Amino acid sequence: MNYKDDSGFAGQLAYIEKVREANLTFFEKEGRKKKAHILTFGCQMNAHDSEKIKGMFEEMGYVLTEKEEEADFVIYNTCCVRENAENKVYGNLGFLKHRKESQPNLKIALCGCMMQQPTVIETIRKKYKFVDIVFGTFNLYKLPELIVRNEESGSPIFDIWKEHGDIVEDIPEIRKCDFKASVNIMYGCNNFCTYCIVPYVRGRERSRKPEDIIKEIEALTQKGCIEVTLLGQNVNSYGKGLEEKVSFAELLRQINDIEGLKRIRFMTSHPKDLSDELIEIMAECEKVCPHLHLPFQAGNNEILKNMNRNYTKEKYLSLIAKIKERIPHIAITTDIMVGFPGEGREEIKDTLDIIENVGFAGAFTFIYSKRTGTPAANMEQVDGAIVKENFNDVLSAVNPKILAFNQKKVGKVYEVLADDVSAQDPSFLTGRTADNSLVHFKAGKEDIGSIVNVKITDCKTFYLMGEKI
Ligand code: 5AD
Ligand code: SF4
Repeated sequence: MNYKDDSGFAGQLAYIEKVREANLTFFEKEGRKKKAHILTFGCQMNAHDSEKIKGMFEEMGYVLTEKEEEADFVIYNTCCVRENAENKVYGNLGFLKHRKESQPNLKIALCGCMMQQPTVIETIRKKYKFVDIVFGTFNLYKLPELIVRNEESGSPIFDIWKEHGDIVEDIPEIRKCDFKASVNIMYGCNNFCTYCIVPYVRGRERSRKPEDIIKEIEALTQKGCIEVTLLGQNVNSYGKGLEEKVSFAELLRQINDIEGLKRIRFMTSHPKDLSDELIEIMAECEKVCPHLHLPFQAGNNEILKNMNRNYTKEKYLSLIAKIKERIPHIAITTDIMVGFPGEGREEIKDTLDIIENVGFAGAFTFIYSKRTGTPAANMEQVDGAIVKENFNDVLSAVNPKILAFNQKKVGKVYEVLADDVSAQDPSFLTGRTADNSLVHFKAGKEDIGSIVNVKITDCKTFYLMGEKI
């Protein structure tokens, strides 16, 4: 446990070969390939990590399955930002225990943010002894080696690193689709918002070199990718530790020059350090989508101070005003948290004020979840009934605002990147406008992966309806 290796992904190739051979022997004996199922909890960062895990499974000769019940290998990529995500993992493990009893060859692995917490590891060691492999967020690329070590030792393998090693490039990836991709530009977070577990489980900020990012996006566009989403906990800090100084805005400009690429998205930006340079580049670079996800969490200045957010309500509102002035057609979305220690009926009014003022295009609303190990866990918690009332007030305020934002789009024509067939009606496709509205529109499958002109005919709070023109 806790040892590092500096050989990067190249050090895994021999292990991949070993697992491949074993899987080939299985195939020759059983007449079928082993199946792997990966279940992802949490954010886009985790979803992207899962694409790397899928890539490694495929390299090792597994086929991927959506159905957990038919899998020979089940892996959960976990999240610990809120308690309910953790409870789901434990709940699922309860079911897996029964399966493992009747199917002892089933392999079970756990990885991701939750595994970076020592108390979780203790619980798994004590109560979930049937789990075969456990690893964390810093050593995901070692999965092939951990599979071999588990196979050879016949005992559970726990490999959790307390901190990050060098950034590992070139891990194979299986992406959900060819025309859209997520690309990590940085890892970790240095902000230590007092409610948040992320800095403890994802480590300190570190940026990928711009040339590695550009190389990856160029390779993606050569394979038909037209939209990238750049991922980082706070993209505004991009480039800080790099030898050759480069800001996030400069990186965007370089990516904007990549031929074949049509849309650039990014998330997440922290309001405390969103630069004028970034606003300028967003306005100038035609591929950078006019959408900004700018979480404000809470409106009350005392609460914001105790959250360690490093801005005030006034600063957030003036930042929004500045952005809107330069980019009038921008869509601003946000994260709102309700129930942070000290937030009573009075304090929530400032949150409602921000909602009233900004005109958000979308909002993720969360109830504060106490995370052991964070400073906020030691503050006096708010009574559940008050949290509920405040939460309802926030929803009642924000939803009509989102609807109003959408209503302004009815009758206009937007470019929509068609993503997929609609889950509700197969004669419809779903896609996103450049400013990130979800649109359902009637069109054939052949349009998937292209940008089509759609006239908006109707809207609801969470989506628009349209006609291809
Ligand atoms: N409880 C509830 N929501 C949280 N978030 C982060 N930590 C917590 C927590 N302890 C939310 C924040 C953040 C989003 C990704 O998750 O709103 O912006
Ligand atoms: Fe968590 Fe704050 Fe970092 Fe976001 S910026 S990951 S909320 S600590």
